Amino acid sequence: MSEIRFDDRVAIVTGAGGGLGRAHALLLASRGAKVVVNDLGGAVDGTGGSQKAADAVVAEIEAAGGEAVASYDSVSEARGAEGIVKTAVDAFGKVDVVINNAGILRDVSFHKMTQAQWDAVIAVHLTGTMNVTHAAWPLMREQGYGRVVNTACAAGLYGNFGQANYGAAKLGILGLTHSLAQEGFKKGIRVNCIAPIAKSRMTETIGLPEEVLNRLEPKKVAPVVGYLASESCDINGQCFSVGGGYVSRVAVVECAGAMMDEATPEAFAEKLDAISDLSTAEPFANAMAAVQKALELAAKS
Ligand code: NAI
Repeated sequence: MSEIRFDDRVAIVTGAGGGLGRAHALLLASRGAKVVVNDLGGAVDGTGGSQKAADAVVAEIEAAGGEAVASYDSVSEARGAEGIVKTAVDAFGKVDVVINNAGILRDVSFHKMTQAQWDAVIAVHLTGTMNVTHAAWPLMREQGYGRVVNTACAAGLYGNFGQANYGAAKLGILGLTHSLAQEGFKKGIRVNCIAPIAKSRMTETIGLPEEVLNRLEPKKVAPVVGYLASESCDINGQCFSVGGGYVSRVAVVECAGAMMDEATPEAFAEKLDAISDLSTAEPFANAMAAVQKALELAAKS
């Protein structure tokens, strides 16, 4: 296929001062995008802040001949998100691409989790993804074009000990992706999601051997984001697991299922094998399609 370029495109990458966001920003800029490098510059748990991280990535892009501007706003506040979009519009006149990547961790087992630990993680990941997309959405609708790439995680898709807050936020992001993909479709907006695996300060301490981590460079995730952020992308509402060059579609699927012989808990238990047969599973285009299937089966009974 012809080279994927972002000439005359304006991209916002949140949390782009390091790790995966930096790799996404560098890739988009290297292919012609004007990039807003947003980063609060805090610690992994979201505390603190500094302009250094975003500034360093802007300098890196400019040194390579690209165009970028820094933004230090927090995605977790609506006003911060509006500031990020305003930075793009003031510097480059529009927003074509939003890469929602900013994230923090407050890992703790559920029985010890405080309300503050829950709120902080939901605010940055789920509300932050909503905030920045919500601020850019009217511009994308008006111009009839937009690409949004969100960042989920295996911890949300499959669960992970000590990450109830993070996992809930990350699966929430997939739900948001599904609905926005449907709402934006007619306006030329495509919304997709990745569940990345990469070496970063977030994963340096989880005990993976150094040689394994070294194979999981963020720059091996960025190309998938690059495609999903491009005009070539006609994929919508999908999620891809990606790390170390491996990519796999992730989908919410539903088994063919079975009718219970009677409306009792025992009848459910008796049919459990048929109900759970994943070999018959399929994804649905939207909630109504899934409800329709259930209604059709119920009507036959
Ligand atoms: P990272 O810690 O290097 O990057 C996250 C960036 O977000 C940081 O630079 C941080 O300053 C910034 N940030 C945090 N709160 C912010 C806020 N309120 N506003 C603006 N910026 C903020 O970690 P990494 O690994 O690059 O993570 C990037 C994304 O990928 C995160 O959403 C993370 O949850 C997700 N992810 C990463 C995985 C991995 O294997 N590294 C696995 C699955 C998901």
